[in-house]
Amino acid sequence: TQTDTKNLRRLVRDIPDYPKPGILFRDITPMLVDPEALHQATDALAAPFLGQKIDIIAAAEARGFIFAAPLAMKLGAGFVPIRKPGKLPFDFHSFAYELEYGTDELQMHVDGVKPGQRVVIVDDLLATGGTMEACCRLLEKCDAEIVGCSFLIHLVPLGGEERLSPHKVHSVLQYEQDDDETE
Ligand code: PRP
Ligand code: MG
Repeated sequence: TQTDTKNLRRLVRDIPDYPKPGILFRDITPMLVDPEALHQATDALAAPFLGQKIDIIAAAEARGFIFAAPLAMKLGAGFVPIRKPGKLPFDFHSFAYELEYGTDELQMHVDGVKPGQRVVIVDDLLATGGTMEACCRLLEKCDAEIVGCSFLIHLVPLGGEERLSPHKVHSVLQYEQDDDETE
């Protein structure tokens, strides 16, 4: 409900000029440390996918992992880790993507998902969508069926949802601009 999300929103701490001047960091650690809020956040991430027969929850390290395992248990699904380079011991798919300065890369085991398996991908935050787009590309290489992408926080003006189209984007808390913490 609206009351629940207001409660969650109050537990996101705004840190100006972190990690660089001009960036407003949305810090979720006050939410994570609160047992009821952590439970609520997991329930809200799962809500649109209840009863939908989800096989796998996929997530990119590090902050995606926080929600992935509880979400998998809630939806009766397994979990597949998507990792930064140099961490996976078996054969993997790789996808490199552009950052503001330089490139980044994510990897997933080739047998992480079987063709046709129904996957939800979760992350703490949708900004430009680069991270989630990389996750989608990796799952597409395995011929997974991407049922949707679920985020705790969506920074709407950054255009991530458009970038992920046509995949379905669900978010628990939406932020329209840098200074709307009064909402
Ligand atoms: C953060 C966040 C998302 C991503 C969102 O991860 O956890 O994964 O950025 O940004 P985007 O939509 O522009 O890709 P980060 O790469 O900072 O690493 P972390 O999860 O390991 O902290
Ligand atoms: Mg991340």
